[in-house]
Order: sequence, then structure tokens, then C-alpha cells
Amino acid sequence: MKIVMLGAPGAGKGTQAKMIAAKYGIPHISTGDIFRANIKNGTELGKKAKTYMDQGALVPDELTLELIMDRFQQADCADGYVLDGFPRTIPQAEALTKALAAEGGKLDFAINVEVPDENIVSRMAGRRACLSCGGTYHIVYNPTKQEGICDACGGELVLRDDDKPETVAKRLEVYHSQTQPLIDYYAGQGILKEVDGTKEVSEVFDDIAAILA
Ligand code: AP5
Ligand code: MG
Repeated sequence: MKIVMLGAPGAGKGTQAKMIAAKYGIPHISTGDIFRANIKNGTELGKKAKTYMDQGALVPDELTLELIMDRFQQADCADGYVLDGFPRTIPQAEALTKALAAEGGKLDFAINVEVPDENIVSRMAGRRACLSCGGTYHIVYNPTKQEGICDACGGELVLRDDDKPETVAKRLEVYHSQTQPLIDYYAGQGILKEVDGTKEVSEVFDDIAAILA
């Protein structure tokens, strides 16, 4: 099964993608997580990506596409994947459609997690992220068992550099101009599904599971 998660920054794409990956035994591929891991490890790619990410801008398509096409070659992608944060522009979506078609494949679902902008800022301020495994929590809505420690891997949790309110505002602006058009793009392919992302985490997941069943 090949799934794309759509939605604004902070809509809960990562939270739901991890749950989908666990239930269906497919990898969760988040371009944001891959960029953050590269930043943490001080790679060349990480250095380039950080300058864009810290401003709330998108990393250039060329760099992102190279990274993701490389990721698709890994053996765990054979039975599909859940993509989170990719594609994020029409050229990225077109490149994905083309790459899949070249091997006779296609996406099964594009799931749009809908959350109004008003809810986003408070979600971001309370988010805590694990830079080791990509785990995502919220101090109120989805707390860890032990404060500041990742439930999944025991890593240290941090407030992401791009979760400052002014950067969040910029990310929302970029989302509306560059990423939201993908909703129509996938509606046109007949694979768009919408879920209400303002519900509780488990309720959103139930709605997604019903779509994928
Ligand atoms: P990325 O890491 O993808 O960030 P994003 O899209 O802005 O999305 P977030 O990770 O912020 O939010 P999310 O939807 O995953 O929500 P989450 O589950 O954490 O990208 C970061 C940057 O990398 C980009 O700005 C860009 O620069 C670059 N980049 C990445 N991919 C790129 C690409 N393809 N092309 C170009 N550049 C790219 O949830 C948010 C919070 O809310 C959490 O605290 C969570 O616990 C909580 N929460 C989740 N669900 C609920 C719920 N139902 N109720 C209450 N709280 C909830
Ligand atoms: Mg995320």
C-alpha cells in the first residue's frame, strides 16, 4: 500500500503516519525527519537543508527529490510506504507520479488531515520531538510517560527550531501557497480522502483505518 499524508504543518501527519506504519507494517518516510537527522549528524545535506527549514521555507525540489528517490531504493519500500511531508509542491508530486508509473505502479491513497490554522499555533508550541527516532509528542494532548524522554527510543525530546510562532506563521503561508494545491491534484487522480484532524488522535486514526480497510 502506498499512501501520501497531506495537511498543514502541525495537522498531525507525523502522528498518524507512525500509527499507519505500525498497523500495516510499512515504513513511515518523513522528509522532515530525514532532514532533521542529517542536521543532527552535521552532514552536507543537513547544512544545506537547515538554512531553508529555519526560515520556514521549503528545501529546493532538486535536493528533496534526490533524497526521496534514493530512499525508495531501499528494500523496506518493496511493499509500499506512508509518505509524510512529501510531496509538498506540484513538481514533487509530478515527479512521484512519473517515478511510480515508470515501474507500473501508483499511489493508493492521499489522506488530507484537515486542521484550521487557528489550532495549529498551540499545537506547535506544545510539541516535543525526538531527533533520534522522529517520535512526536505534545505536552498536553499526547504526553510522554516520562517528561522530556521519548517513549519509543529513550531519546531526549526537544522543541523543534522551526516551531517558534513567527516561523510557524511563515510555514503556514508556504503551505497555503505551495502545498495546498496538491489536494486538487490528488482529487483529480481520484485518490483523495479527507479526515477531520481536530478530533482526538485515536479518533483520527479510527477514521483513517476505516478508509484504508
Ligand atoms: P516537516 O517535518 O514535514 O514539518 P511540517 O509539514 O511542517 O509538519 P510537522 O511535522 O510540523 O507537523 P505534522 O503534521 O507532522 O504534525 P505532528 O504529528 O507533529 O517539515 C519541516 C521542514 O522541512 C519544512 O518546513 C521544510 O523546510 C522541510 N521539508 C520537509 N519536507 C520537504 C519537502 N518535501 N520539500 C521541501 N522541503 C521539505 O503533530 C503536531 C503536534 O500536534 C504534536 O505535538 C502532536 O502531538 C499534536 N497532535 C497531533 N495530532 C493531534 C490531535 N488529533 N489532537 C491534538 N494534538 C495533536
Ligand atoms: Mg511531522
